[in-house]
Amino acid sequence: MNDQDIYLKVDSVSKNFGNFTALADVSFQARRGEFLCILGPSGCGKTTLLRVVAGLEKQTRGRVFIENRDVSSLPVSKRNVGIVFQSYALFPNLTARENIAYGLKSHGQSRQAIRQRVDELLDLVGLRGMGRKHPAKLSGGQQQRVALSRAIAVSPDLLLLDEPLSALDAKVRVMLRGEIRQLQQRLGITTIMVTHDQEEALTMADRILIIDQGRLVQHGTPRQVYDKPATPFVANFVGAMNFIEGATKIDQGVYEIGKARLCITGENGTRRLPVGSHVTIAIRPEDVMLHIDPSAPNSFETRVEDMEYRGSLFRIDLKFPASVDKAATITADVPAETVRRLGIALNATLPINLPVDRLQVYATNAQVI
Ligand SMILES: Nc1ncnc2c1ncn2[C@@H]1O[C@H](COP(=O)(O)OP(=O)(O)O)[C@@H](O)[C@H]1O
Ligand SMILES: [Mg+2]
Repeated sequence: MNDQDIYLKVDSVSKNFGNFTALADVSFQARRGEFLCILGPSGCGKTTLLRVVAGLEKQTRGRVFIENRDVSSLPVSKRNVGIVFQSYALFPNLTARENIAYGLKSHGQSRQAIRQRVDELLDLVGLRGMGRKHPAKLSGGQQQRVALSRAIAVSPDLLLLDEPLSALDAKVRVMLRGEIRQLQQRLGITTIMVTHDQEEALTMADRILIIDQGRLVQHGTPRQVYDKPATPFVANFVGAMNFIEGATKIDQGVYEIGKARLCITGENGTRRLPVGSHVTIAIRPEDVMLHIDPSAPNSFETRVEDMEYRGSLFRIDLKFPASVDKAATITADVPAETVRRLGIALNATLPINLPVDRLQVYATNAQVI
């Protein structure tokens, strides 16, 4: 990354609360105008990281740079950030207009300039005509739009969003996802959004940072994170994943499981594992193919053990033949149309193929949580 493109740099940040390590040696950078999502399960340290970036929490170790300037010791008021919290955090006794204008007043702008700016902001978030309402008279989605307007009112250079959509209904959440992303792009504002919702991160982010117990375990574009999860934790947290345990490496790109062999070209940092290593092999349910060519590598006859209807697809549990592993099952996501066309039913025999380039390999000591 070119130094001039970098707006924010977080350098080896750790945060302890007493003996508890909430963040451990986290480093990342955000380009100017980039939309980053910090993704991880509840309690992994996302809010703490956002608060350190904002200057609401002081890191125990490490430094924070904004435009190459060390802001590690500056308070939030000196960092030019706009923040939207998970709870709407609007002033209940103030109208939407007054809430939005709140930050502008402390910036010492004239009444006329403030009125104009608030109108502009209400328009921007689709709340024209709602300015006189108090928060209690607005829906959750409208309240978060007000909170968003308030955060961007003073034209911050960095927008920080802490699970802004998590309290909203599914439909509103999806709509606001698109709106926030469009607004962010229109304003070109560097944005960091915290979420525990993988779909939100995959649909909104330019890049995703995945946190596991205070550690940054992977960062990359949504596609990189989904296609090449760095650890079994990431594989399991982002999307669904089959794990096939108890395989052994017998050659470069060749693994043995029971009496069967799996050929793999899509290895992820396990290429250097010595022959004889024990590994876990992983594949996404949608990558399990119902095969056509039985001579293709990684083809198996399986038996349909369970079928779960999910509307557009069936999630099907398949049992491997005893020659591979008596107990091993694998889950396949099959479009409902394919299930109908092939007449797939319980206990049917189903030939499958595991494409060589869609299998991931993890050293077995890596933890699945
Ligand atoms: N002020 C605090 N004092 C003590 N522990 C805290 C404090 N803030 C957060 N923690 C702990 O740090 C961990 C991470 O919290 P948080 O950053 O809020 O997680 P997340 O936002 O990912 O759910 C949690 O175990 C939480 O209990
Ligand atoms: Mg949080």
